[in-house]
Amino acid sequence: MFEKPSTRTRVSFEAAMYGLGGQVIYLSGRDTQLARNEPLKDMARVMARYVDAIVVRTFGQEIVEELARYSSVPVINALTDLHHPCQILSDIQTVIERKGAIDKLHIAWVGDGNNMANSWIQAAGRLGFALTLACPEGYDPDPAILQAARETSLRPITVTRDPAAAVKDADVINTDVWASMGQEGEEAVRKKVFAPYQLNMALLRQAAPEAIVLHCLPAHRGEEITDEVLEHPRCVAFDQAENKLHIHKAILLTHLGR
Ligand code: CP
Ligand code: NVA
Repeated sequence: MFEKPSTRTRVSFEAAMYGLGGQVIYLSGRDTQLARNEPLKDMARVMARYVDAIVVRTFGQEIVEELARYSSVPVINALTDLHHPCQILSDIQTVIERKGAIDKLHIAWVGDGNNMANSWIQAAGRLGFALTLACPEGYDPDPAILQAARETSLRPITVTRDPAAAVKDADVINTDVWASMGQEGEEAVRKKVFAPYQLNMALLRQAAPEAIVLHCLPAHRGEEITDEVLEHPRCVAFDQAENKLHIHKAILLTHLGR
C-alpha cells in the first residue's frame, strides 16, 4: 500500500517478491476504501485474510503501527514521515560491501534530520558505529529517537551545525533531499536554510580521501548534492539502489520463510 510516490522501493519489493516466486497486489492511496475513511483497524484485519505480508509507504508512523497492531500478517515499513528502515538496511549492506564491519566506522549525515536520519540513528543505537549528524537549527532529528539510541549505543551519536566537522573523520558521508515527500510547500524556505549543507566537492575534500558517499535517491542535483559528487567514483548511490532488491528479498524471506 503506497500513499506516497516510489520508484526504487516499490519496484524492488515487487521484483523481489516475483523473484522469490510470489506475487504482489499494488494499491495506491486512491484505490482503497481508506480514501473514504474506512478505519485502518478494519483494513488491516481484512487484508491479513487475503495476503501474506503488507508493505506500507505512508505519512504518519502511527498508520503503520496501527496496521501492524491489527494485522495478523507482517507489516513492513516502506517509509513514513518518521522512518525509512528498509532503506537503511540496504545502505548498511552497501557500506559493509565497501568497508567491512560497520561497527568500526564513523558515519556522517549532512542535511535534514528527517526519516532517513532517524533510521540511521536507530541503527547506530544497535550496531555500534559512531554517527555525526550536521543539521541546521530547527531541522534536527527526532529527539525521542535520538535519546533512545544514545541509551544503547556503544559510540557517540552527535548532532552539530557544522558540515565540515561532521565529515572530517568520516568513513561514510550521507545526504538526502532537503524537502521530503509531504514537505513540498516548504521547498523555498528549505533551499535557503540548507544551502550551507550542500554535499559538493569542497565539502568532500574535507573528508578522508577514502570516504564514500551515500544517497538513497531520488537526488536533486544542485541542491543537497552536486552532479560532480553524485557521479564521483566514491559515490555508491546506485549500489545502494541495487541492494534494495537483495535486502527486500531478505526481509520478505525473514518474515515469510516457512
Ligand atoms: N530510496 C527510495 O526509497 O526511493 P523511492 O522513493 O523511489 O522508493
Ligand atoms: N527523505 C525522503 C526519502 C525519499 C526516499 C522522503 O521522505 O521524501
